Amino acid sequence: MAEVNVSLGERSYTIYIGNALLSNYVENLPHKLNQQLLIITNPTISQYYLKPLLNTLSGHQIEIFEMRDGEQFKSLDSYAEAMDILINAGFNRDCGIIALGGGVVGDLAGFVASTFQRGVDSYQIPTTLLSQVDSSVGGKTAVNHPQGKNLIGTFYQPKSVVIDIDCLQTLTERDYRSGLAEIVKYGVIYDADFFQWLERHTAELNQQDPATLTYAIQRSCEIKAEVVALDEREKGLRALLNLGHTFGHAIEAATEYGAWTHGEAVAAGIIIASKLSEVTQRLNSSDFRRIKDLLLALGLPTKGPQMPWQDWLDYMQRDKKVKDGQLHFVLPVAIGQAEVVSTIEHDTVAAVITECC
Ligand code: GLY
Repeated sequence: MAEVNVSLGERSYTIYIGNALLSNYVENLPHKLNQQLLIITNPTISQYYLKPLLNTLSGHQIEIFEMRDGEQFKSLDSYAEAMDILINAGFNRDCGIIALGGGVVGDLAGFVASTFQRGVDSYQIPTTLLSQVDSSVGGKTAVNHPQGKNLIGTFYQPKSVVIDIDCLQTLTERDYRSGLAEIVKYGVIYDADFFQWLERHTAELNQQDPATLTYAIQRSCEIKAEVVALDEREKGLRALLNLGHTFGHAIEAATEYGAWTHGEAVAAGIIIASKLSEVTQRLNSSDFRRIKDLLLALGLPTKGPQMPWQDWLDYMQRDKKVKDGQLHFVLPVAIGQAEVVSTIEHDTVAAVITECC
């Protein structure tokens, strides 16, 4: 089992990565679990993983909230349902909330944990590649509002994150590749060696080779832990983790969170950001080519959908990354290095989007 530490003073915690961790959940944790536990999950996940988890939790008072599966259910309604369960069961301030699922479950469960009785213990068991390498780590919690994604939420760190890579066996091929997009992101923004390692291991990643996957997840979590430890509340460095996301969120919103997975939209967003960086003479053409080739080799889209510039602008301006009414773009300036840039003319962005879609 690999361990990655997220160093945040008294809010520090460990990410555990390995095989068969779910069926030994309690045994593997160095801390005692709360007597009262609410498990938040969804039917897609619970059919495989709820029973093995429950088997390790005998003697605890357990409540289960099986929310419906899908981004549209990361809502204030689902949040209220979870609160009703906690209150009706008489849960107190010593209870804990376990998120068993992907990013939707993790974000909602974290938000519930951060607000029930002004904050109770939160535990993440991410079951998708995307949530294992990104959303379960770093303490961002949220629900969506009809006007935009993640508009309501908190920063609230979990007590532990347990990543059982066996859970990936039930993931669809598409969702698996979606997670790979976030892994590529870490190489592009932060670690040229890791990027090169990914280039050399595309065959193993495409075959979901367990050892390769474990290292890719571990290195992604290490990078995320390092960034979060330096800038927990996204005042600077952490913003780099949003590479491809301004364009990606626009794609997801325009296609109503249906036609594109988050990772696919991020992959197309990484290409648009990289092209914008190349066109504005920040990134050289051979690095742009390497980024594109890696995404292609991992079966990810490298072209966005076509839509009018005004729609792009409207969706991007609704994104949380807008500051003082100005669009900010995370642009790679070399493999392993990125910057936030806010001085690009809209005409240039529009031309690049046309070229990339
Ligand atoms: N997913 C980006 C972040 O956690 O900051």
